[in-house]
Amino acid sequence: MLNLEELDILYTQEEIAQTVARLGAKITRDYEGKELLVIGILKGAFVFMADLIRVINLPLSVDFMEVSSYGDSTISSGEVRIMKDLQHSIEGKHVLVVEDIVDTGVTLHYITEILKKRGPKSVKICCLLDKPSRRNSPIVSDYVGYEIPDYFVVGYGLDYAEKHRNYPAICVLKPSVYER
Ligand code: IMP
Ligand code: MG
Repeated sequence: MLNLEELDILYTQEEIAQTVARLGAKITRDYEGKELLVIGILKGAFVFMADLIRVINLPLSVDFMEVSSYGDSTISSGEVRIMKDLQHSIEGKHVLVVEDIVDTGVTLHYITEILKKRGPKSVKICCLLDKPSRRNSPIVSDYVGYEIPDYFVVGYGLDYAEKHRNYPAICVLKPSVYER
């Protein structure tokens, strides 16, 4: 059983679906006639990406990268490691990196710098959630679902210590959970 006393709903499933549809419509317009490669950053982005690609009305391919920076803490270690690299070359492709949340920006800064060296035609970022107040790396997302304050959120793919990814809404995890 989910312990709902630890969670406050921030965005419901219905609200998220509307936001994802808005992002998909914009991406569809922007990439019309281009060869689009959508790259998901595992694990957090997998739920968002699954919904997003189904509202992008264009031919596209997908690939995944897994990086680790957090361990089981709610504070970034500042160190990024590639745990799983892409399967295919991105040379000559229009790359859209899909991420669950941009916090300090360290993870996406690291990833986009690596990708830009591999000869893509373009690299853009789509994140569902953005915490601009926490930024210390120069990362600006091209597509943003929601800007949020400095909350620690879980659900819809986002985890705390690998839990809560399956919850369909986006919830704020009460600090009492990770401060105890
Ligand atoms: P950054 O490198 O500080 O931008 O951190 C980005 C990564 O940290 C995201 O891909 C998430 O996996 C994780 N993260 C940051 N904030 C949260 C949060 O509020 N909930 C869950 N994961 C988070
Ligand atoms: Mg994570």
